[in-house]
Amino acid sequence: MSYLAEPHGGRMVDRQLTGEAREDWLARAREWPVLAVDRRTLSDVFCLATGVYSPLTGFMTRHDYWRVLDEMRLASGLVWSLPIVLPVSPEIAASWREGQWVALSDQWGEPIAALRVEDRFLRDPVDEARRVFGTVDPRHPGVARLLQEPRVLVGGEVWLLNRPVLCEVEAQCVLDPKLTRAAFAERGWRRVVGFQTRNPIHRAHEYILKCALEVVDGLLLHPLVGETKADDVPADVRLQSYRVLVDTYFPVERVLLAGFPAAMRYAGPREAVFHALCRKNYGCTHFIVGRDHAGVGNFYGTYDAQRIFERFAPGELGITPLFFEHAFYCRRCEGMATAHTCPHGPEARVTLSGTAVRDMLRRGEAPPPEFTRREVATVLMQAMGGALETQARRG
Ligand code: ADX
Repeated sequence: MSYLAEPHGGRMVDRQLTGEAREDWLARAREWPVLAVDRRTLSDVFCLATGVYSPLTGFMTRHDYWRVLDEMRLASGLVWSLPIVLPVSPEIAASWREGQWVALSDQWGEPIAALRVEDRFLRDPVDEARRVFGTVDPRHPGVARLLQEPRVLVGGEVWLLNRPVLCEVEAQCVLDPKLTRAAFAERGWRRVVGFQTRNPIHRAHEYILKCALEVVDGLLLHPLVGETKADDVPADVRLQSYRVLVDTYFPVERVLLAGFPAAMRYAGPREAVFHALCRKNYGCTHFIVGRDHAGVGNFYGTYDAQRIFERFAPGELGITPLFFEHAFYCRRCEGMATAHTCPHGPEARVTLSGTAVRDMLRRGEAPPPEFTRREVATVLMQAMGGALETQARRG
């Protein structure tokens, strides 16, 4: 018997074609219309086919889409918080018919997936933005993207023909849900906490990770390696910083570091639920939600992404969220703390904004060790220096 979380909906989806079946499908796909899709859609195809989005087996049809927007549930009633959709230009969508197969390719024309067209319908981008992102402000990166996308959505099941290249480090770090589950079982972990991050790990992250590790058996350190905003630190640099941090400051046998192949949406609360459900599919029993999870700018309240979990009965999610207050280094406590554990005022706290840290690193200045470990700062400064040199050479 397994102690790990069941896949969402009870069954692990696996739609990766292999061997002769794959050869057959590839031959058939040569006769199909081809649609080149962007990196974000490739991420979704990959997650659908490898079970990260179980129980979804394809892009949403209107019944799932509308209920997800209205109630954060699939048509079946199962909790699901974000639309997983395929926007297609009206001309192309009009040239397809229901029941037809289409090949989705990467930008180099390599066929990645087979899609069966089951539904074509119109979205209302403003309504979707309001419901998913809680704003229609085009300064929100998720809203800006949504408003530029075609309004026609195509729903239908997908099968994976070839693994897409999602980023330069993806092949070295992404483990499919079946593999993380096998790794947890092999290590004898019964309670596993998943950690989503799109940033280098600073002392506050390290603190909440270690607090969680006190009460579970293992940690899935699961940085997102799909598409992010241009000003987020690139995945390869982050991976170097995670490795140096884990090797130096964590019991390595209690940590599994792997990449999460989905793209960032910056949908705050709804994305926190989505992140938790995906980590349940990877076998995690617990999931960390700290301050402003998956937030951007000032679009969400500090703890909105925690409060959203109150809308569901615990059994409906099948993964336990672990909520953390805003963590910081307190000079008077001489250690990491939160408002839950520290009586001192803000003047004793070492806190820095992401922009301030980036500016320091660009100037070749290490952030204070109470904020970022020296080893991590070294990796980041080297990478930033390299980026500046490249810019100077180009300029
Ligand atoms: S996220 O977009 O992937 O959420 P980030 O990598 O910054 O961004 O955060 C990863 C996780 O750590 C999230 O759950 C976030 O809420 C949490 N977190 C980040 N900074 C802090 C902090 N200072 N205190 C507590 N939790 C934090």
